Amino acid sequence: MSKLPSVVAMDGPAASGKSTIGELLAERLGYIYFDTGLMYRAVTWLALDRQTPVGDEAAVTALAETVDIDVLPPTVEDGRQSTVLVNGQDVTWALREPRINANVSPVAAYGGVRAAMVIQQQRVAARGHIVMVGRDIGTVVLPDAELKVFLVASAEERARRRWLEEQARGGRRTLDEVLAEIHRRDEIDSTRPIAPLRPAEDAIIVDSTGLKPGQVVEEILRKAGYST
Ligand code: DC
Repeated sequence: MSKLPSVVAMDGPAASGKSTIGELLAERLGYIYFDTGLMYRAVTWLALDRQTPVGDEAAVTALAETVDIDVLPPTVEDGRQSTVLVNGQDVTWALREPRINANVSPVAAYGGVRAAMVIQQQRVAARGHIVMVGRDIGTVVLPDAELKVFLVASAEERARRRWLEEQARGGRRTLDEVLAEIHRRDEIDSTRPIAPLRPAEDAIIVDSTGLKPGQVVEEILRKAGYST
């Protein structure tokens, strides 16, 4: 078994299991779990809150450059993985609302927004002992990470997982509607010109379709040579 990596970069499409697997892997290694998607969601929340049109790139970028986003360990025991403060306000659950899902991909496609977020993410990761999860962590944010994981799962399985999560929170969308949104977000995230979703050349690719979270973590550690 080789020496553990200081940072783990984990990427993959929407609902591929990154948050569940990332958190479990972090727990297993005794590392911090950090979900960078929350930062793009936080900028989107602020734009909607300020009634800034999400199509106004300059205005949204200006918000991203000045907003104060804190991603902290959970401060309330209500099932959250992290607490997110935007300019001091706890917006953790608001970031999961459908209006954020519907608007976050275009916001995350703006170069100026990404530049502002990447600087903050690199600062957080510099402390080490972290599992950082997103879309461009292995390719752009942490190209030197010792362990890069790219998680995949079929669109149908990802839609089913998202739909079950939504149902548990009282959501009303049909499985077909969730599947259509997954396809739409995959398309935007992987075809955008800046930092498109793709595996780094040195990433290990793990398919979580049909596997339980613990099995996926074992598969990652095995493929990476950290367990037998
Ligand atoms: O993982 P998520 O669904 O919370 O991500 C929200 C959006 O942010 C999604 O459209 C992809 C984008 N994102 C990104 O572009 N880069 C990251 N590092 C993380 C998320």
